[in-house]
Amino acid sequence: MIITVQQHILQQQAAHFPGARGSFSSLLSGLTLATKMIQAQIRRAGLLDIIGSAGATNVQGETQQKLDVFANKALLDCLGSREKVAVLASEENEEPVTIDQSEVGEYVIVFDPLDGSSNIDVNVSIGTIFSIMQRPDGVHGIEAVLQPGWKQVAAGYVVYGPSSIFVYSTGHGVFGFTLDPAVGAYLLCYENMKMPQSGNYYSVNEGYSESFPKPYRDYIGTLKQRGYSSRYIGSLVADFHRTLLKGGIYMYPPTQSHKEGKLRLLYEANPLAFLAEQAGGMAVDGKQRILDIQPTGIHQRTPLIIGSRNEVEELWGMTRG
Ligand code: AHG
Ligand code: MN
Ligand code: MN
Repeated sequence: MIITVQQHILQQQAAHFPGARGSFSSLLSGLTLATKMIQAQIRRAGLLDIIGSAGATNVQGETQQKLDVFANKALLDCLGSREKVAVLASEENEEPVTIDQSEVGEYVIVFDPLDGSSNIDVNVSIGTIFSIMQRPDGVHGIEAVLQPGWKQVAAGYVVYGPSSIFVYSTGHGVFGFTLDPAVGAYLLCYENMKMPQSGNYYSVNEGYSESFPKPYRDYIGTLKQRGYSSRYIGSLVADFHRTLLKGGIYMYPPTQSHKEGKLRLLYEANPLAFLAEQAGGMAVDGKQRILDIQPTGIHQRTPLIIGSRNEVEELWGMTRG
């Protein structure tokens, strides 16, 4: 049986959001549409580079944009016109884009339009990450964005790899869809995804290991003694996608240059933590569960330890002291 992401979203809405009457599914449709536009542009990245540098006009008369600017615009355009959107916040915008100051807007959407941007030029997997929350009554703008991750009502990502894969959860399991480029539809291919309880991969930028706190260095040493393999792509989405499918542990510890860690809480750590927990895995910052952190700023950073339950619990036991 073939199930498209649209059908799946409608089924999830009927089963779990009976009061939503189409507005929730409309948001997710806006997201899938934007990611199709983004992937189409990414597939042409090499061609655009050959034709001219960013900011120039190519032979078809199109003004070129950097891919992350293009991705951000695609998401803002596809979501901004949707009913019930209250606030959009993006890695690419210093301040949230407030769509609706009335009480009509119900949802807050936060996103990293293009994750792994340093990998664009070298034809390595990149992605888009999103998080959806409900706007609390009487709360608007930035205040509506600063909610802990456990309040997310949906989260997901697309990894633009050899194929484009959309993975999402509305808090009732994790589902994955592969874009069939011939028909332009995302088709269900991973039903109720579960992260292995344990996996023999560790993923971390070991180039910075001299400045990792001792528990991280000790734990990495232990994993090496046990014969774990190292995998690090440098695009969080792609590293997470592998961890979801194969198990193991991903870490971005505090470092010399990023004392609070490098990754962003609201549009990187929170949505992936939501998916990890839904898939039976775990995500912590070294002290507490990622989803329990009360954010104080939209672009706030956090250390991230995420992956299989066994490995995350083991390292967490060491970082808690
Ligand atoms: P972005 O491209 O959205 O700025 O995110 C980059 C992030 C993340 O994708 C990746 O895991 C991490 O930066 C890599 O950082 P290092 O190069 O420091 O390892
Ligand atoms: Mn990112
Ligand atoms: Mn980004």
